Amino acid sequence: MASLLYATFMLIAFLSSSAVCFAFPGFNFGWGGTGGGSGSGGGGDGAFGGSQGYTGLFPEFYSFSCPQANDIVMSVLQRVIAKEPRMAASLLRLHFHDCFVQGCDASVLLDDSVMFASEKNSVPNSNSIRGFEVIDEIKSKLEEACPQTVSCADILALAARGSTVLSGGPNWELPLGRRDSRQASLTDSNNNLPPPNSTIQILITLFRRQGLDEVDLVSLSGAHTIGMARCTAFKQRLYNQDGNDQPDSTLERTYYNDLKTVCPKTGGDNNISPLDFDSPARFDNIYFKLIMGGKGLLTSDQVLLAGNVEGTMFLVKAFAEDDALFFDQFARSMVKMGNINPLTGYNGEVRNNCRVAN
Ligand code: HEM
Ligand SMILES: *[C@@H]1O[C@H](CO)[C@@H](O)[C@H](O)[C@H]1NC(C)=O
Repeated sequence: MASLLYATFMLIAFLSSSAVCFAFPGFNFGWGGTGGGSGSGGGGDGAFGGSQGYTGLFPEFYSFSCPQANDIVMSVLQRVIAKEPRMAASLLRLHFHDCFVQGCDASVLLDDSVMFASEKNSVPNSNSIRGFEVIDEIKSKLEEACPQTVSCADILALAARGSTVLSGGPNWELPLGRRDSRQASLTDSNNNLPPPNSTIQILITLFRRQGLDEVDLVSLSGAHTIGMARCTAFKQRLYNQDGNDQPDSTLERTYYNDLKTVCPKTGGDNNISPLDFDSPARFDNIYFKLIMGGKGLLTSDQVLLAGNVEGTMFLVKAFAEDDALFFDQFARSMVKMGNINPLTGYNGEVRNNCRVAN
């Protein structure tokens, strides 16, 4: 009898937490609100798409409150990406730049306010991150369909997954239920996001700070299978990699000559070059094959192999040889990155406008 009662209670608890959590965000029987510090991410395929380090997010979060949420995201993405394939890359990157700064809380979307300086003006973001208008369009469609329900942080996560899928990459079950911050951090944006000229040690340290390991570092760097970088992000490699006026010796020679035409020694800082010149709009494992041939665009790409860290070298080779292995690990690591320090329960808010706190 007691166990039957308990089972019934758990069933009600589960249904209630899905159905009611948008209206009563605290009513989820301890499954939310315990997000933990940075490093709480977890991969794997638990009962709720969850993880070793369960964060309170779960894929069914909008099943009752906004079942069409993902369809709305996908319909906007389909149109926008068909028109401009690069937008898939820009949206994928936006989720990364969100999650590494205060966790996945849509802080990256906030404009300047009297309370804080926008992350949009940090060194890694300024004149670089894009896609805000697409997020705005998705948000306004979601507000029409399901008012005050879907957070901007979840929109970023859904857009990152959808952009990956529409570029030919893997799909995955996506834990949801993130809430939006009321604050941004320009300082953390400058300090937590890795610079393009990072050594392998810097990359490992900055990922570890987020609870991500070397496997996550290498697989997530595979996002550079799509999209572009500005000359300013790789100029140092072409003209003065180590302070001796010489190019990076790990840069393949013909590729080096091609890059110099896009990125002259003086000027041209905003000229762009594909991160994967072989298939810049296709999500595949060619990024890793290019690194194997000395044709990674950024220092941070090439050091995954050239940095002489056994683990990352091994993974670059493994992913270059086996695209299914890369896809599977990328999906796992995206879930893990998406679980970094989310606001859940009564923490944070669901913004009405992704650019301003309510
Ligand atoms: C490992 C450390 C990383 C470094 C140092 C790095 C750095 C960069 C830089 C410098 C650019 C070019 C920006 C510009 O020139 O305007 C870029 C572009 C990009 N990054 Fe990363 N990134 C890293 C990891 C990641 C991760 C983890 C993701 C996503 C999971 C990601 C996704 C992208 C995408 C898709 C683009 C192309 C964006 C576009 O075309 O608009 N990056 N990254
Ligand atoms: C990376 O670039 C920054 C800014 O140009 C510079 O201060 C820093 O020393 C560079 N780091 C490395 C490892 O080359």
